[in-house]
Amino acid sequence: MNIYVETQRLVLREIVPGDSKALFAMDSDPEVHTYLGNNPITELQQAEKAIAHIRQQYLDNGIGRWAVIERASGELIGWAGLKLVKEVRGGHADYYDVGYRFAKPYWGQGYATESALASVAYGFNVMKLDVLNATADTGNLASIKVLQKAGLKIKHEFKDEDGIPHYWFELSRDEWNT
Ligand SMILES: CC(C)(COP(=O)(O)OP(=O)(O)OC[C@H]1O[C@@H](n2cnc3c(N)ncnc32)[C@H](O)[C@@H]1OP(=O)(O)O)[C@@H](O)C(=O)NCCC(=O)NCCS
Repeated sequence: MNIYVETQRLVLREIVPGDSKALFAMDSDPEVHTYLGNNPITELQQAEKAIAHIRQQYLDNGIGRWAVIERASGELIGWAGLKLVKEVRGGHADYYDVGYRFAKPYWGQGYATESALASVAYGFNVMKLDVLNATADTGNLASIKVLQKAGLKIKHEFKDEDGIPHYWFELSRDEWNT
């Protein structure tokens, strides 16, 4: 199993089929989905499908979200990392998106920030990307704070396909280096 990044408290590794129960526990929680524009999942099979989808992205794009493991417990606590978004969002397409999602018991401990900083460093240092982006619902204050702490800046606001206001974030390699 590929381990991509280790931080002080987390291991970011390849998502594997055996992760389905932990991902189901996270993604079946309505609170997790408050700002995600979709519904919580209701069947384990949906988590299995999501894992297969991410694993296909590893093959097709050389990158996709990673499982986040809490080192202290060995538990899978969420996912994080970069994703190549091919469809148009915020007027942009084919961009590398910084993202994360954690199970509620693990919120408020700085894990999203720790994983976002590691994802950004991976994008610039390992993948040698020139720019990273992200989007967040304008009401998702925790996520906005995480992205800003990882160095991303709000560039403009847009409405998603459901008419919900979102911010478009960007960070260039040059800005990151200075
Ligand atoms: C958003 C999410 C990833 C944050 O994870 P987390 O591990 O709790 O985040 P962190 O602890 O690293 O940082 C959160 C920051 O937001 C702040 N915060 C949390 N809730 C907040 C709120 N309602 N209003 C303002 N700030 C808030 C925290 O105080 C912290 O800032 P600080 O370090 O300066 O105190 C987590 O809530 C989650 O998984 N939500 C569901 C999925 C999701 O929304 N993903 C993002 C989609 S864009």
